[in-house]
Amino acid sequence: MEDKIRVLVSEEDVDKKIREIGEQISKDYAGKCVHLICVLKGGVFFMCELAKRISVPVSMDFMSVSSYGADTKSSGVVKIVKDLDEPLEGKDVIIVEDIIDSGRTLSYLLEVLKQRNPNSIHICTLLDKPERRVKKQVVVDYVGFEIPDEFVVGYGLDYAQKYRNLPYIGVVEL
Ligand code: IMP
Ligand code: MG
Repeated sequence: MEDKIRVLVSEEDVDKKIREIGEQISKDYAGKCVHLICVLKGGVFFMCELAKRISVPVSMDFMSVSSYGADTKSSGVVKIVKDLDEPLEGKDVIIVEDIIDSGRTLSYLLEVLKQRNPNSIHICTLLDKPERRVKKQVVVDYVGFEIPDEFVVGYGLDYAQKYRNLPYIGVVEL
């Protein structure tokens, strides 16, 4: 059966916002190269669109993480399923995420990636659910949209692996 999906952020608004973030990053990193890190799979649509809107030189790498079982989830320990191909030494890194919810994934990733001696490391997310944040110390440098505590799909985000390909952000009406 088809699920009903209500549009939360239209395709046009998402595109406009990505252009704005791209411009901001281009200004902030003037004279530098940015190394974008995509957290698969959800971040891939956003990262590709964002990379196209950045005017300074861009390199990209990908990693995939998964949370350990429900018991250890609160510890924030995530498993690296696919690690980066390139070292981070001396690079100006931006971690590109689809959404920040509790902040556990990012808080863990930040700790791991900081140990690889990048020159700088910042965070960019398309969506943020600030109400849900458990890891309050996670500072997000670039946020597309702050959204209420609703389960969203589209633009990389899935519901049981479906709907990643929607060109807008929607809410599945259960
Ligand atoms: P966190 O560690 O709680 O911040 O979890 C973030 C991850 O949970 C995201 O990268 C998504 O994969 C997933 N997630 C959180 N909220 C949603 C949602 O509303 N729709 C789809 N996936 C979500
Ligand atoms: Mg994600």
